[in-house]
Amino acid sequence: MPLFFESVRVGRLPFFGAAARPPSSHRRLLVRMTDNNELKRLDHTYLWHPFTQMQEWMGEEPCIIAKGEGHYLVDIKGRKYLDGVSSLWCNVFGHRRQELDEALREQIGRVAHSTFLGLSHVPGIELAEKLIEIAPSGLNRVFYSDNGATAVEVALKMAFQYWQLKGEKERTRFASLVEAYHGDTIGAMSVGYSETFHRFHRPLLFPVLRLNPPHIFRYFQNMNEQDALQSAIQEAEEKLSRERDSLAAFIMEPLMQGAAGMWSQPLGYVKALSEICRKNRILFILDEVATGFGRTGKMFACEHAGVSPDILCLAKGITGGYLPLAATLATEEIFSAFLGEYGECKSFFHGHTYTGNPLGCAVALASLEIFKKEKILERMQDKIAHLKRRLEEDFLSLSHVADVRQWGFMVGIELVEDKSGRKNYAPEKRIGHKVILEARRRDVMIRPLGDVIILMPPLTIAEDELKSLLDVTWESIKAVTEG
Ligand SMILES: Cc1ncc(COP(=O)(O)O)c(C=O)c1O
Repeated sequence: MPLFFESVRVGRLPFFGAAARPPSSHRRLLVRMTDNNELKRLDHTYLWHPFTQMQEWMGEEPCIIAKGEGHYLVDIKGRKYLDGVSSLWCNVFGHRRQELDEALREQIGRVAHSTFLGLSHVPGIELAEKLIEIAPSGLNRVFYSDNGATAVEVALKMAFQYWQLKGEKERTRFASLVEAYHGDTIGAMSVGYSETFHRFHRPLLFPVLRLNPPHIFRYFQNMNEQDALQSAIQEAEEKLSRERDSLAAFIMEPLMQGAAGMWSQPLGYVKALSEICRKNRILFILDEVATGFGRTGKMFACEHAGVSPDILCLAKGITGGYLPLAATLATEEIFSAFLGEYGECKSFFHGHTYTGNPLGCAVALASLEIFKKEKILERMQDKIAHLKRRLEEDFLSLSHVADVRQWGFMVGIELVEDKSGRKNYAPEKRIGHKVILEARRRDVMIRPLGDVIILMPPLTIAEDELKSLLDVTWESIKAVTEG
């Protein structure tokens, strides 16, 4: 270990005052772990970050997060940033929420993990009841897993096996939306294909029937919203009825295709798709991994449309953004198809070591309690309206902002080189990336999807914090695109 670490006094470390002096056995490690240069060296030497061009990463100064405080993240140098994308769309009430911290501590005092295969546990049981209470009607069984992609894999396998068990063995295919994103495992990539993300793995993926969503900015240009909607519904009606006997299920992200770049849908689309599926006996799966738990202003996006799916995928916000936990909810009709004598082998043979982890379940229970106690959904409505007003009044007038799309606290601001011709910037210009670095210089943490700037604040963000998120984003876009 370099001499430097030996000589620094623990008492001067930024995050451990005298009262919180760490045990001596940990001091040496902590000294080392608060030195930015050493951490940077270790990161660049040993790590491989997800969705990251590591060559670029290794040429930049990494921002190393040391702790969270409310709606802010604090880096190793003590600099504070507003968390404008809820730590990849999952944080709900800010960081270090007392009730969630306590729920976690209490559960650790009981048991950190015990398997859900052949055993059950208290927080897993209690959470299932609460999830069913708030879920769209008709969903009454909860199957746990670990993250959004696994929630989707479970849904696909469940739907597939359901038809096999029902004796309709030719129903083996899936349908989904163009540029959908459902996660990075093989099944999730197949139904959610994105050319940018998944092209190298294309030969591994199974073929899927694709529908064009009513996305006006790219697909139905020069059409108004109503005509685009009708056109997309007509296409869905034709394709799904034609293929009805071979389709097990259709899967979609309701209201907002997040990772595509926040492609919003008019309300009628989800409703129409649910009816077309019902009519053709195709299972209707909603992936609410991103839209669930209040993101769109209601607990689940499908509530806006008054729709209940056959299968619902949940993850991200389920634990308030604390721990990896996911749930796939299904109807009793689907569940009962899997029942039978052991020897009939109808069981759903799917599971993970950490399925239904008790710590995650305990925190998820505390999170649902906060939703109720603090009337989180009601209290965010004025802020949603404010967000909408600012986006329309201030952002659309910027010379390189071509479109803004919003559902609740999910926002995409699309930047283009030429607004009238909707001409994109060349990807190598890294405009979106430059905008978020500019915002970071102004103490706001956001993340782009290509040249779409994403805003996804925690649901409890204060009015003045929301104002500074919008001000900084506006200034950063202006500085990069007009500066
Ligand atoms: C709609 C949707 N489904 C699935 C996923 C995958 O979730 P995870 O990253 O937890 O696997 C995501 C992630 O962003 C998502 O937005």
